[in-house]
Amino acid sequence: MKKYLIHTYGCQMNVHESEKIAGILRDEGFEATARETDADIIVFNTCCIRETAEAKIMGHIGQIKKIKKARPELKVAVCGCMSQQEGAAQLILDKFPFVDAVLGTANLHLLKEVVAKADNTSKNRFFNRDFLGDNDNRPVFRTSGTNAWVNIIYGCNNFCTYCIVPYVRGRERSRPAKDIISEVNALLDEGYKEITLLGQNVDSYGNDLKDGSNFASLLGELGKIGGKHRIRFMTSHPKDFNQSVAEVIEKYPSLCHNIHLPVQSGSNSVLKRMNRRYTREQYLELVRTIRTHLPDVGLRHTAEDIEACYALARQEGFTHINADLIAGLPGETEEDFNDTLSLMEEVRFSSAFCFVYSRRKGTPGYSMENQVPREVKTERIKKLIALQNRITKEISKEHEGKVFEILVEDKNEKFENTYCGRTDGGRLVNFKSPTDIVGQFVNVKIKTSRSATLWGDLITEEK
Ligand code: 5AD
Ligand code: SF4
Repeated sequence: MKKYLIHTYGCQMNVHESEKIAGILRDEGFEATARETDADIIVFNTCCIRETAEAKIMGHIGQIKKIKKARPELKVAVCGCMSQQEGAAQLILDKFPFVDAVLGTANLHLLKEVVAKADNTSKNRFFNRDFLGDNDNRPVFRTSGTNAWVNIIYGCNNFCTYCIVPYVRGRERSRPAKDIISEVNALLDEGYKEITLLGQNVDSYGNDLKDGSNFASLLGELGKIGGKHRIRFMTSHPKDFNQSVAEVIEKYPSLCHNIHLPVQSGSNSVLKRMNRRYTREQYLELVRTIRTHLPDVGLRHTAEDIEACYALARQEGFTHINADLIAGLPGETEEDFNDTLSLMEEVRFSSAFCFVYSRRKGTPGYSMENQVPREVKTERIKKLIALQNRITKEISKEHEGKVFEILVEDKNEKFENTYCGRTDGGRLVNFKSPTDIVGQFVNVKIKTSRSATLWGDLITEEK
């Protein structure tokens, strides 16, 4: 059997897109391999959100040259966000003559033609990018265990001034609700216990459909699906996340209390220059609304009544809000940066992905004045990470002694008879079990915590 190897970079959207790439290749009779030297086709599913990602990918593609030299029949394809960027795609074709195809994100189906070609002459090379078609309703080869990814909206209309995504992923395109609901139902019937809805901005779901559907109504439909499972979603935009979304999450137990709500900065002047279209004050108000509506239902006290449990959860802030933060947007002053630190203290994010600002050609940020020197950006990101580590540790500590419902995701191979899974809020928990309980919901009492990870004892098996 012919073999494929896919290198995936970047976000969960790409992880899922690689599952679609695998689906296409398996349809052509390929099977997976983990070794580049065994592969008949190597696919790079790329990311271009930051310069560091791009440099890493370019380095990796360069290393394939010697494998291709030894085995000229090997096919090499580059897909994903980098290939949607005119300059980067051309650069790949010029710099790496051994690359057979550079395929835009809407052209994954062309992989069939790439593998069918007998040779690698320049006339056979592809470069094709457009935004037509989103590879929906095609075979997907899922590799994510108990969780299944489901796209609900593609593209982005927001044009944050630092971000390349709207240029490489095009305008927002929502999938019809009936397609999403039937995909989710089919996945649950197949036995998946957790569904993660994906979109650059899930809260603008439906805006382009003009049939009255929106994210809250979609969540409501999905929440009604019976049976024991979890539904997560990412990513939310604070300007669009509204009370009706919080209310619908509050209403249906399957909808997880874990919200990825990137704030990017705590300074109003930076937020304005980022074109985020909310203020620090509006963000904090939104956090308050979310926390009032969503105590952590994953938190269970064995005997106490549920109201007491809710009150405690509310007070302890167990609704998990995660953020993305950027250090060093052009013109960010020390005072602006301190506003970000103070906002972090105020919100107490469960986790935060911290990034150094990366200057992306084609975005308004590229030509902004007062680019922040690299040393200053590095200094600042270190502070963001140190502060978040402290908060993460403190929040983990607050879990100790409490009981949480966990969806068991995997075996932890590092320890004997040890399994791991997540709370409804998304915290990773390790615990021992004499039997294999992957895919089950169990209750675990937390004993100790270590930065983001919790350790506990199994209380009951399958509920
Ligand atoms: N530089 C640094 N971080 C960026 N992000 C997007 N563009 C850039 C950039 N040019 C971050 C944002 C976003 C996350 C996916 O990546 O924080 O939320
Ligand atoms: Fe980029 Fe902003 Fe769109 Fe997110 S919302 S993908 S940060 S432009």
